[in-house]
Amino acid sequence: MARRNKIYEGKAKILYEGPEPGTLVQYFKDDATAFNAAKKDVIEGKGVLNNRLSEFFMTGLNNIGVPTHFIKRLNMREQLVRACEIIPLEVIVRNYAAGSLSTRLGIEEGTPLPRPIVEYCYKDDKLGDPLVSEEHIAAFGWASQQDMDDIVSLALRVNDFMSGVMMAVGIRLVDFKIEIGRVYEGDFQRLVVADEISPDSCRLWDLKTGQKLDKDVFRRDLGSLTDAYTEVARRLGIMPEHGQGGAKPTLIN
Ligand code: TMP
Ligand code: ASP
Repeated sequence: MARRNKIYEGKAKILYEGPEPGTLVQYFKDDATAFNAAKKDVIEGKGVLNNRLSEFFMTGLNNIGVPTHFIKRLNMREQLVRACEIIPLEVIVRNYAAGSLSTRLGIEEGTPLPRPIVEYCYKDDKLGDPLVSEEHIAAFGWASQQDMDDIVSLALRVNDFMSGVMMAVGIRLVDFKIEIGRVYEGDFQRLVVADEISPDSCRLWDLKTGQKLDKDVFRRDLGSLTDAYTEVARRLGIMPEHGQGGAKPTLIN
């Protein structure tokens, strides 16, 4: 079958040319990587789950007026998105200490932070996505001061939305990463939340037990990643218990 033109292949997703100008098809692979791809595996069903979960979060954000690149889900592994120019930053928001913040500053994982902390990493796999400051971002022209104001505002709105949605199903949003894209509308540009929002890019802990329901299950060998993601999807009412796309994801394309 003739396949669409591939625009870009990343570690967990592929972007294909979309059906209309200004659109792309985002395909979710089953590949899981950690530690800048030093650890790799194929986790059957992960792409299906992340496609559904990212659809759920991005739709919610669109509905409350936080602009995202998401247009619609096309099938089990693909979604239609707006083409955008990705700002080369990973924008991280943290509510509780964990991961690299805990290591860097010696703060015990799970310690509540005095307020949400926004951090930036420069997206460059060869360099291992190093932490950078607003000074670097301004000096190297990755984003303007106006962009930075908009990015912080988007990141904090995503944090409030995601924290509330997860809290409602008994899950703590510890931290997350988003990517921001520029879309051009005539002479104007606007910033949108792009890439994906899924348990690959968030830390999600069960409120009562502290059980990890995110990619740390893979990073730290804590059990079945699909069981963890399926649990998140089940609590959010995304995966019906029975039938197509049920608790065990149906692996059709
Ligand atoms: P960190 O504690 O490893 O810096 O991760 C912070 C958050 O960012 C966490 O929710 C996981 C997410 N993240 C990604 O989505 N991609 C990455 O490459 C890394 C390192 C972290
Ligand atoms: N996405 C990163 C990698 O591939 C790291 C991570 O999420 O831990 O390797």
